[in-house]
Amino acid sequence: MKTPARAFAFAALLALLSTHAAAAPRWWQRAVFYEIYPRSFQDTNGDGVGDLNGITRRLDYLRALGVDAVWVTPFYPSPQVDFGYDVSDYEDVDPQFGTLADFDRLVKEAHKRNIRVVIDFVLNHTSDRHPFFIESRSSKTSRKRDWYVWRDPKPDGSRPNNWSSSFGPVAWTLDEKTGQYFYHYFYPQQPELNWRNPEVERRMLETVRFWLKRGADGFRLDAVNYLYEDPQLRDNPVLPELRFGSTTEHEQEKKYNRDLPEVQDAMVRLRAFNDRVNPESVLIGEAYVPKWEELMRYYGPSNNGVHLPFNFFLVMEPARSKLDAKVFRSVIEASEKALQGRWTTYVLSNHDIPRHYDRLGDGKNNDLIAKLTATMLLSLRGSPFLYYGEEIGMVTTEPKTVEEVRDPVGKRYWPLRKGRDGERTPMQWDASTHAGFTTGAPWLPVPPSAKEKNVAAQERDPDSLLNFYKRLIALRRRSPALLDGDYASLGDDPHVYAYRRRAPGQTAIVALNMSAERRAFKLPPVMRAGPFVYNVALSSRPAPGHARGVSGELTLAPFEAVILTARSL
Ligand code: NOJ
Repeated sequence: MKTPARAFAFAALLALLSTHAAAAPRWWQRAVFYEIYPRSFQDTNGDGVGDLNGITRRLDYLRALGVDAVWVTPFYPSPQVDFGYDVSDYEDVDPQFGTLADFDRLVKEAHKRNIRVVIDFVLNHTSDRHPFFIESRSSKTSRKRDWYVWRDPKPDGSRPNNWSSSFGPVAWTLDEKTGQYFYHYFYPQQPELNWRNPEVERRMLETVRFWLKRGADGFRLDAVNYLYEDPQLRDNPVLPELRFGSTTEHEQEKKYNRDLPEVQDAMVRLRAFNDRVNPESVLIGEAYVPKWEELMRYYGPSNNGVHLPFNFFLVMEPARSKLDAKVFRSVIEASEKALQGRWTTYVLSNHDIPRHYDRLGDGKNNDLIAKLTATMLLSLRGSPFLYYGEEIGMVTTEPKTVEEVRDPVGKRYWPLRKGRDGERTPMQWDASTHAGFTTGAPWLPVPPSAKEKNVAAQERDPDSLLNFYKRLIALRRRSPALLDGDYASLGDDPHVYAYRRRAPGQTAIVALNMSAERRAFKLPPVMRAGPFVYNVALSSRPAPGHARGVSGELTLAPFEAVILTARSL
């Protein structure tokens, strides 16, 4: 029989173990994520559109790159008005992307290679062809009428309020048959679900169960901050500035249709459900918000909300378009201050944003600058999200004429706004016709740069961007400081953005020369006695002296990025 003292010691040991278990980093905190836009990654059946089997075919490439998880954007049955973000069946695969069996195979093969599969969950709206909406639209007394946001016109017949749509111009469409308007923050073909109806929530949670049971490792939650609308549908304040692309429409402060407090409660319920089905899976929330304080709410009142609210501050002005040490330092410092130790994500490009290769490039040194921005992305305190093709320096290739445009928003606002086709062009695998993406006619043209800029060519060149990404990811994987260390900015040099990451046993210093001049960078004083030398763990422009390590001052070549490591006490 256990004595009370032994029982106590045993309980204390268990408690200690469980505290340690709780503190251990979760897989998604150490993962390098890689976003795949399936239409554009790899086609295997010659129809010019990528597919799930194409992703499976390229898993060895992703493993060699060092990716830990892929996020696959929507592949569900869809009329493809918004290229999959208009879902007409949540529990199947669109035939152009494959079948459920293909999905199962993708998950199985990915897991064999230690790659997790995160999928997109479009929970804010459905397609107007989804059976839910078809039923809802059929009559004012339909059982699913209240699954969407329907309102009578104003007495003069006009729309219920002034809300604009993200894709312009207005967020209400009149249904002639029933005489009411329905609300759509995005295209009219994407009616908004009414999350105030508990049946909607229950049904959407079933979708979560469906995919987790099939082996998905988590969800990227699309447009999650738009789930709820003001019940009184008050008008949004209109701002003086014109909206991007328009000469007549004004921006609005989305006071009554974005980030309502009810969203945070829904995220807590979603997380609880998710954790019951598979506590290992991750929830990543897409929420473009103007201020850090607003994003923090998505973590939940006791970190019981979304695990990773997407941090978009590196793709918002001024960091979005300016390679400037002062700007990056201040954006990251603001993030660190707001986060108070919570985990975050970092991202420089995605399927909605022009690629950073040319956005932050100066047109002359783009490859060097891409190595520098990669170094930053992969060494900050957070989980990096790469966007397919950034590892080979794919460029944003916008359509040249309005006839070529595929993204409806580009058609509407042409020529001021050309839509998002530019960042969605096919992956460039080799120098063959259509860059090895398809044997058919690609759904978007392959950029001319694919002849030189492709995976096969860069695999052969030791100094290529691709090989640099591989070295960088490999270094990150074995560096406790880069994986788990704390963050502190170093100095206030207007040209060199530098920081320290420190974990028990290892310190890393990252120095990024964001200028076209040579710059001296003073190394921080060491924390232990005796002569001290940092190892140059990685440089984007390796120099002969680097092999011996550095101390005192370091000279950085134009746009050089350096990671130094040292053993810390
Ligand atoms: C955000 C997605 O990233 C974007 O591509 C899509 O158009 C909207 N949400 C609507 O689903």
